[in-house]
Amino acid sequence: LKPDGCGIIIFGASGDLVYRKLMPALFNLYVRQLMPEKFYILGFARTEMSDDDFRERARKALTDAHKNSEAHIIDSFLSHCRYTSGDYNNIEAYRQLQKKASICECDYTKKENKLFYLALPPQLHSTVVSRLSQSGLTVEGDKGNPWARVVFEKPFGHDLQSALDLDNHLCSMLNPSQIFRIDHYLGKETVQSILMLRFANIMFEPLWNEKFIDNIQITVAESVGVGHRGGYYEQAGCLRDMFQNHMLQMLSLVTMEPPTRFEAEYVQNERVKLLKAIRPWSERTLKDNIVRAQYTAGEINHEAVQDYRQEANIDPDSITESFVAMKLYIDNWRWQGVPIYLRSGKRMHMRESEIAVTFKRVPYSLFGFESQHEMPANILVMKIQPNEGVDLTIHTKQPGPKSCMASLSLSFKYSEVFDVAPQDAYERLLLDCMLGDRTLFLSSEGVEAAWTIIDPILNFWRNYPEKSPLQTYKAGSWGPKASDDLLLRNGHQWRNPP
Ligand code: BG6
Repeated sequence: LKPDGCGIIIFGASGDLVYRKLMPALFNLYVRQLMPEKFYILGFARTEMSDDDFRERARKALTDAHKNSEAHIIDSFLSHCRYTSGDYNNIEAYRQLQKKASICECDYTKKENKLFYLALPPQLHSTVVSRLSQSGLTVEGDKGNPWARVVFEKPFGHDLQSALDLDNHLCSMLNPSQIFRIDHYLGKETVQSILMLRFANIMFEPLWNEKFIDNIQITVAESVGVGHRGGYYEQAGCLRDMFQNHMLQMLSLVTMEPPTRFEAEYVQNERVKLLKAIRPWSERTLKDNIVRAQYTAGEINHEAVQDYRQEANIDPDSITESFVAMKLYIDNWRWQGVPIYLRSGKRMHMRESEIAVTFKRVPYSLFGFESQHEMPANILVMKIQPNEGVDLTIHTKQPGPKSCMASLSLSFKYSEVFDVAPQDAYERLLLDCMLGDRTLFLSSEGVEAAWTIIDPILNFWRNYPEKSPLQTYKAGSWGPKASDDLLLRNGHQWRNPP
C-alpha cells in the first residue's frame, strides 16, 4: 500500500484548510507509516514565510490536532516540509517553485513524482493550472513515470456552464488521469461502507427496491454556523455548498446499481448513471418539492447564537439559504415511486448525519393492530457522523403472557467494535491520490450530472423568487415548518433524534 516517493506541493499553503485538514491528515499517514519512504511537502502561497515559519504554523496545527503525539515524531515529519511564496498568476513564481521542487527532489525523493493540491478558491483553479502547465511542471514521463497529479477542492464552478468551462480548460492542459476532483464525503469511512453494507451482505439487496422500500431520508445537520467563511458561503449557499456534491454523492451510493468491479471507472459510471436517472424538475416540483430557508437567532446547547444576517461578511439583507430540504424521485425500475428526501442546514439542533432507509410495512398485521398501516416499519439507519455505525429497527415480542410487540434496535457502533476512531476522510483521499486510485474521486461526467440537477433550482430561485420564498428557522431547531410539511404531504416525517 505504500506509495512511491513523491513531492506534495500545496497551493494556498497559508490557508485554513491546510492546517485544519491537510497537514493533520498527512501527519497521520506518516505516523501510520503510510506515507512514501521518501517524500517532501512544499507549501506555496502569496504570504511570505520562511521554511521555518511554515513548519511552526504546521507544528501548532499538529499539536492541536494530535495532543498525544510525541514532539520528536512531529519534528521528524516537519523536517520534510519546505515553503516558497509567489503570486499565483506570475510565471516567474512558478520558475522559483520549480527550482525549489528540484532542490527538494535532490534532498528527499530522488524522484520527480509530484502531487499538486489546490487548496484555493475556484476562481484561481484555471490560472494555476495554466501556469503549472506553461512552466512544464505537470508534464509526465513515459507511461506516467514520473507522474504529476492535480487535486481540486470543490466547488467545481458555481453553475453548470462555469463547471463545463472549467472542465474544458483543465482537460486542455491535463490528461483526465491527472485530474483528481475531491468530494471529501466520499473519503469518509461510513460513506464508503455504504457499498460494503449493500453489496457484501446478501440480505439487503433483494429488498433494496420500490417493492420493499417506502422512503429514504438523507440528513446532514450541522450545529455550526458559517464561522469565518461568510464571504464564501454568502455567494455559495447551502444548495451549492452541500447538495451539488456531498448530498448527491451519498444519494448515488445508496441507490446506484452494483458495479461489476470495484474499480474507479466502474464505480464512477454507476454513480453517474444514477444521477442521470433523477427525475428532471418541472415548474410544479421546483415550487412544491424544494424548501429553502435561513436561520434566525436562537440557542444551541444553551448558548445564544446570532441571526445568519448578523454573521461576519454576510449581507444584512441576504437571501442566501443556510438550509435546504427537497423531495425527489429516481426514474428507473428499481426506485419508481419511492420518495427520496434530502435535507441539510447550518445551525440546526445538533450535528447529525445519517441515511435512513424505511422499509414498507408487512402486508397483513397478525399482532393486534387494526390495520397493517399502524404497524411500525423496519428502518435501516446508516449513521455517517458522529456516533458512526448502523442501526436496524426490528420488532419482537415483549416478555409476558400477552402478544405485545416491542421495537428494538440491532445496533453496531463503529467505536465499540473497532476500538479506533474512523480514519479522517482527507487521509484516505490523499493516500489514494498518491497511489493513483481514482475510485473515490469525481469524474467530469459526475460533476456535470450533479450540476444538471442543481442548475434548474438555482435558475428557478433567481427568476421566480415569489414562487420559492425564503423561509426562516430558528437556530437550534430542525428547520422550517415547510420542511416538515413537505414530508407530511406523503404521510411521512423527518427522523429527528431527540
Ligand atoms: C464542506 C462545506 O464541504 O463540508 C462546509 O463547505 C461543511 O460548509 C462541511 O461544513 C461539512 O463537512 P463535515 O466533514 O464536517 O461533515
